[in-house]
Amino acid sequence: NKGNYKHYMQKEIHEQPESLTTTMRGQTYTRSQRIVFIGCGPSYDAAVAARPILEELSGNDLLDHQGPIYREDTAVFVGQSGETADTLHALEYALQNGALCVGITNTFDSAIARNTHCGVHINAGAEIGVASTKAYTSQIVVMAMLAFASGGDTTFNEARREAIIDYKVMLKLDQEMKDLVKLLIAEQSILMFGRGYDYATALEGSLKVKEVALMHSEGILAGEMKHGPLALVDEILPIVVIATHDACFSKQQSVIQQLRACKGRLTVIVIEVPQVEGCLQPVVNIVPLQLLAYHLTVLRGYNVYQPRNLANSMTTK
Ligand code: M6R
Repeated sequence: NKGNYKHYMQKEIHEQPESLTTTMRGQTYTRSQRIVFIGCGPSYDAAVAARPILEELSGNDLLDHQGPIYREDTAVFVGQSGETADTLHALEYALQNGALCVGITNTFDSAIARNTHCGVHINAGAEIGVASTKAYTSQIVVMAMLAFASGGDTTFNEARREAIIDYKVMLKLDQEMKDLVKLLIAEQSILMFGRGYDYATALEGSLKVKEVALMHSEGILAGEMKHGPLALVDEILPIVVIATHDACFSKQQSVIQQLRACKGRLTVIVIEVPQVEGCLQPVVNIVPLQLLAYHLTVLRGYNVYQPRNLANSMTTK
């Protein structure tokens, strides 16, 4: 039931304060030499968001040595549906190599849930929209909880929980993004620059725009801007720079200055989001981009329910 919402995607974006609350009721813990995350699409982006949290807390270099999987490894399979063929293929491989396999999914009794040794249900509630929204944020939170637990902190404290859940902010953002997309409706492409924890936000934000608004978009590591992408910058191409008050803020300010120097199309619109601790900022920062993709899709007249060529979960290899 969509209630007062027009589409499930819109309902699911707005459900995030609730879905994150239920996700954070759980607690996780793990013990192993190395943790490898596997997922596709938004679940891959969620793993990219969680990677620096784990690296920071455990000092391990996790995903850069993806090749061989050993008995001492923990392989974490991330998925909304738990049925994605590519992820299941990797699960088979990890099981053959004797790794401890953990599932993080939103679906009880899915293939990932059944075939892993243990797992965490992200508890985000049914996600009907093909473009993942609330499952994505809940996946990041679960992986952050896993990271905190592996660093010895097995409680995900109240302050952390409350900081990322703000219903009122959600509604304000909705209107702001609805107004903003009017400027973007006829564009061909949008670049999104993120760094640090928000590199994943740039990837996922641009994935959302591609998936449902059927507009080209590229999420780019901001540090790479002057090594190629800068050539694309002109008075026409719209660019989103993700710059919240974290360790990367001043670097992102220089990115904006460089764009200005190159006569980039700079309509600086400040979208305010709640400030939370750095590693959880991607959970909050993705919301305006989800709303941007949603409203852009509706305004461009595309089908929110059935994006071209896509399905909720890609069950073929
Ligand atoms: O259920 P999963 O998170 O494993 O799904 C991963 C992909 O199959 C899925 O994201 C799919 O590509 C998109 N929903 C298509 O929009």
